Amino acid sequence: MKKRHRPLVIGNWKMNPPTISAARRLFTTVKEKTSHYNGVDIVIAPPMVFLSEMERIWNGSKKIFLGAQSVHKDTDGAHTGETSIAMLKSLNVKYVVVGHSERRAGGMTDNDVNKSVILVLKNDVYVVVCVGEQSRDMSGNYLSFIEKQVREALKGVTKSKLTNVIIAYEPIWAIGTGKTATSEDAHEMKLFIQKILTDLYGRNYARKIKVLYGGSVKSKNSKSLLNDGMVDGFLIGGASLNAEEFIDIVKKVEKYVNT
Ligand code: PGA
Repeated sequence: MKKRHRPLVIGNWKMNPPTISAARRLFTTVKEKTSHYNGVDIVIAPPMVFLSEMERIWNGSKKIFLGAQSVHKDTDGAHTGETSIAMLKSLNVKYVVVGHSERRAGGMTDNDVNKSVILVLKNDVYVVVCVGEQSRDMSGNYLSFIEKQVREALKGVTKSKLTNVIIAYEPIWAIGTGKTATSEDAHEMKLFIQKILTDLYGRNYARKIKVLYGGSVKSKNSKSLLNDGMVDGFLIGGASLNAEEFIDIVKKVEKYVNT
């Protein structure tokens, strides 16, 4: 059997929770209760305003990592309200999510995504590139849409940087809707994305890239997405705000890896 990647589970808190004390509680609980799961990489991407305090609680742990939900595409400059890669690095952020559909909806273009991807990789930070179609059609147009997103995002990315690239397939119709892609949908898309990556970089390099699934991942559907969908982990929104549910997903992922 082909060796699978070490799985990656990312909690994308989006604009939650509403207070710093709730964020402290959530992060502390997740950190403490996942510390014995050794077979999974766990990342929490809190709102920027909470990052510094989460870093204090994180306190150098090797079991859980800090993520950012976005980064500005320029290294510095007059960008009101934005966050630079240097700022994120100074807070020990190891993973940056780029091109989430909620940011693309706010005007982020494929070109912006590409610039951010290059910047993050140049800084030796992992980049989680989000791709996903708005809806599906019988003629398969969504496939060319995904292909374009992947190719544009990775323009100029060299083979030497690929170990720091993660692709998160997040169909927009599944985000926050409770409608999850089936494990067949997820598997089809994983294979399709791997084919694009193979065309771009060759099989051996393409294999280095993890492909995650995101969109209404819950504890109850995580097992089949992992077993049958064959994805390398999850990008989790809603369910990452509930410590118990999130920990349960991590537990299932770990159990899967060890069976
Ligand atoms: P969801 O969000 O799990 O709430 O659907 C996923 C995401 O947007 O990353």
